[in-house]
Amino acid sequence: MNIITKSVIIFIMLFVNQTSFGIKSAETAAFAIEKRIDKLLAQMTLAEKIGQMYQFSYAKADMSAELAELVRSGKVGAFLAVTDVKLRNKLQKIAVKESRLGIPLIFGLDVIHGYRTIFPIPLGQSATWDLRLAEKAAAIAAKEARSEGIDWTFAPMIDIARDPRWGRIAEGFGEDPYLCSLMAQAKVRGFQGKNLSATDTIVACLKHYVAYGAAEAGRDYNSAEVSERTLRDIYMAPFRAGVKAAAATVMSSFNDIGGVPASGNRFILTDVLRGEWGFDGFVVSDYESIKEMINYGIAADEAQAGEKAILAGVDMEMASRCFLNNLARLVKDRQVPEKVIDEAVRRILRVKLRAGLFEHPYVDPNLAGSETLQNDSLQIAREMVRKSLVLLKNDGGLLPLRKDIPSIAVIGPLADNQRDLLGAWCGRGKAEDVVTLLKGIKNKVSSTCRIHYIKGCDIKDNSLGQFDAALNIADKSDVVIMAVGESADMSGEAHCRTSLDLPGVQRQLIKAIHKTGKPVIVVLFTGRPLTISWLYENIGAVLLAWHPGIQGGNGIADVLFGDYNPSGKLAVTFPRNVGQVPLYYNHKNSGRPPAASDPFTSKYIDCPWTPLLPFGYGLSYTAFEYSNLEIKPDKVRLGQPVSISVEVENKGTKAGEEVVQLYIRDLVASVARPVKELKGFEKIRLAAGQKRKVSFTLTAEQLKFYDIDMKFTVEPGVFKVWAGPSSIQGLEGTFEIF
Ligand code: GLC
Repeated sequence: MNIITKSVIIFIMLFVNQTSFGIKSAETAAFAIEKRIDKLLAQMTLAEKIGQMYQFSYAKADMSAELAELVRSGKVGAFLAVTDVKLRNKLQKIAVKESRLGIPLIFGLDVIHGYRTIFPIPLGQSATWDLRLAEKAAAIAAKEARSEGIDWTFAPMIDIARDPRWGRIAEGFGEDPYLCSLMAQAKVRGFQGKNLSATDTIVACLKHYVAYGAAEAGRDYNSAEVSERTLRDIYMAPFRAGVKAAAATVMSSFNDIGGVPASGNRFILTDVLRGEWGFDGFVVSDYESIKEMINYGIAADEAQAGEKAILAGVDMEMASRCFLNNLARLVKDRQVPEKVIDEAVRRILRVKLRAGLFEHPYVDPNLAGSETLQNDSLQIAREMVRKSLVLLKNDGGLLPLRKDIPSIAVIGPLADNQRDLLGAWCGRGKAEDVVTLLKGIKNKVSSTCRIHYIKGCDIKDNSLGQFDAALNIADKSDVVIMAVGESADMSGEAHCRTSLDLPGVQRQLIKAIHKTGKPVIVVLFTGRPLTISWLYENIGAVLLAWHPGIQGGNGIADVLFGDYNPSGKLAVTFPRNVGQVPLYYNHKNSGRPPAASDPFTSKYIDCPWTPLLPFGYGLSYTAFEYSNLEIKPDKVRLGQPVSISVEVENKGTKAGEEVVQLYIRDLVASVARPVKELKGFEKIRLAAGQKRKVSFTLTAEQLKFYDIDMKFTVEPGVFKVWAGPSSIQGLEGTFEIF
């Protein structure tokens, strides 16, 4: 045997050994954790077990002797919203040094789109279609949060949202289960890293499980009436993906599903989450959502609420004390078996052990602040802003602007506004850190450019007092950039709207400025899709900026002045009229799909049934052309993959990025299937004139759905395929599964 063969054999043996060693060491570690839990559980009193199941909401308290005693006696397992590192360590020291078993606390906070370095809101992050960037942003948030004593974030929020009236649409990744699933996994990887016990990672929490975004009438906390098939195909998909990515916790949602509140819903919490998906972390309730089962009328009192929640599969109670005050008696009265408590506590201890809290329960207070707002973090934030921006319109190439343009009027209530650019759920973000649009423009243009600024009106109030002054500065400028939209507090939890129009008198202001005949660019700041038909039809250029976070002004100026060619694509549909919602691209065809020629089809008499702007839409400063769609094989045996490729050419004069999207339609199945489903995408960069082939592999797993018998399966039949720049454009082909 020659030396080469020998060395190859040795390498293979080492590799196999290393891999199996890797698997073995993971199994060994897991086994060691379970043995430690067995030992702890055997020592714990029932009261100490129940204490682990209570999360104290610090926001409404201060460090009192009563609180210290609660921790010392082992009656608290976790805290919410302790944001002072010294206080955090003080509480932890009581738990570790003064309680009987020294079980460390876990400290949670809503680190949704950044801790102190605030990135665009998640609805903007999903518009980047950039999973690597989304993961990086979460890793930065984790490092910053952990350095200030936060071990656990209540994120990613992965509720599918099809109704922009619902304020929390801002907080998630949009309407599509495929994109939302991949974003969920990217965020879990970013928060938890490769080693959850490292000191720069934090425990992730998939929320709000489940179908919280299906709240009827887009009104927060309202009922969700969804079929089991829609639940599984759409709303559960991102959670299933997040569990596959090893998310350590899940949060049960406020809503009921067909009359059963999520926090008392054994089907979702135990049968599916644990029974089908094998989730082995712990479930925390949403804030007092266990106690709120009394309001639903499915529990007569806190004891019954606690009983229903523990038997359904909730492990830890946030804020309310149904568990703390009642579980011991419920066990004594044999209404709740102690082994159910043991399993809940086992899952909580498992996460605390995996997070390394027993080994390093404290945070170095000197570290606090040392990790936040690092320059490389700010650059990533700026990159995320650039890529989140969606160019909705650009008539006649009005954008990009020249940096040496003689004069610019900057008008609007969001132009020199720091607080509102942070958006909802902005963690420990501070308005003072925000680069406003005005500042970003000033940072960008040449010294000869004269900038005239005026607010012009407020976001919400109806005063026209500044209109004349705004018209004056428009008159003396070459171009007008208007910064309009929603304030941060118009979206987020408990901030739903019945109108999606621009608030206040902002549209009137835009109309007045438009009348001057000056070229107008509108930068739209919002936490949700808005109804902007007039603006879209009449204004030359419209750039959607969401609530972009602390680097908003710089990232937007990069795009306005051509230092970055916009590449954002909508992850949520923009309706023409609020009367159309819920409106989403992956809808069923109905028995009477809309047909212009036939009045008796599914449409309106007062508005086109189509969206103003569809899912996946976004323009560029260049033009991409699609050609040569290939599907191989176009007839494939059930269970085999299909290869699809398409060529994309940059026909313009500027380099740019394009999100190449792959959609399918299952034409005939045992249940009605959506008219389109996103099943792949790739964000590519092409130089001017460059052409590239983009290839996808469609696996049988990706074609599965819940069939007439609720089996997750793929059925033979003909499928349509599209590859293109949005959910309404692309080259079309077909393949058949037999
Ligand atoms: C809130 C939210 C939830 C958040 C929790 C803690 O009510 O619904 O998303 O994580 O309480 O702040």
